[in-house]
Amino acid sequence: MKIRKAVIPAAGLGTRFLPVTKAVPKELLPIIDRPLLHYVIAEAVEAGVEEVIIVTSPGKESIGDYFRSYPELEQRLADNSDEGNLALVKEASDLARVSFVTQHQALGLGHAVLMAKDAVGDEPFVVVLPDDIIAHSPGAISQMVQVSDRLNAGVIAVEQLPWEVIHNYGVVDGVPESERVHKIRGLVEKPSREEAPSNLSIVGRYILPPQIFQILENTRPGAIGEIQLTDALVEMITAQELYAYRFQGRRFDGGTPMGLLKASLAFGLERADTREDARALLRELQGQED
Ligand code: G1P
Repeated sequence: MKIRKAVIPAAGLGTRFLPVTKAVPKELLPIIDRPLLHYVIAEAVEAGVEEVIIVTSPGKESIGDYFRSYPELEQRLADNSDEGNLALVKEASDLARVSFVTQHQALGLGHAVLMAKDAVGDEPFVVVLPDDIIAHSPGAISQMVQVSDRLNAGVIAVEQLPWEVIHNYGVVDGVPESERVHKIRGLVEKPSREEAPSNLSIVGRYILPPQIFQILENTRPGAIGEIQLTDALVEMITAQELYAYRFQGRRFDGGTPMGLLKASLAFGLERADTREDARALLRELQGQED
């Protein structure tokens, strides 16, 4: 069944990005000239998503501004025949239909996803975490949709990470199904090195059936006292198949200053309109190293 809806949790406090997140929601921090949110929505739209449900929290209303239209600015740009900027102003609102639901209490990722239950309804959907920026064409969600269609089941993105860092992630226990695919037989959220069943860590892309909502309604707080999506998936696999897909592409952790810096450099070196300047800057900075 076609994946028409994406749920984007954007209700977190952004503590790893303080102090800037006192004033700017983490999801609006830019890579060059577009916010993190923009990249993940574009990735979802490329995969066929038509409707985006953003889960925000009180105080993060400015996220909505990014998707508003600005008639006065648009009129002025039109009067000046500034087609380039006019297209940029309209770009976000033209991407997809965007709606918002509010998570009033920070009870965890699973709880944030549950807030989108009514907006999603009775159809499969994709959860996209805007911290995880994945550079690849076709995008990771498009790749996952193909796997989900083939296996007629839910699919979550994973990547192999060094054992030293996997306690920061959800981790899957899987049996190989095909080259990039494992059938999942267990999952653990933020395991210790000893508890981790593998070093296949969950990345923020999940194609899920709507039954996950009933499970989330009954999921109790788990790791770090929060209602975890990973724990709901553990329950789900007792009744339905779920697969882990090692996506093609490079993931950046846009949720940390160093990850965002890396993404900015990588995108700057990749984009046709910034590539030359970015290379020259790197050469210049390297020349200055002592
Ligand atoms: C969340 C998930 C975790 C996953 C990670 C990917 O953790 O709970 O399973 O590995 O996203 O970014 P968080 O980053 O919110 O701690």
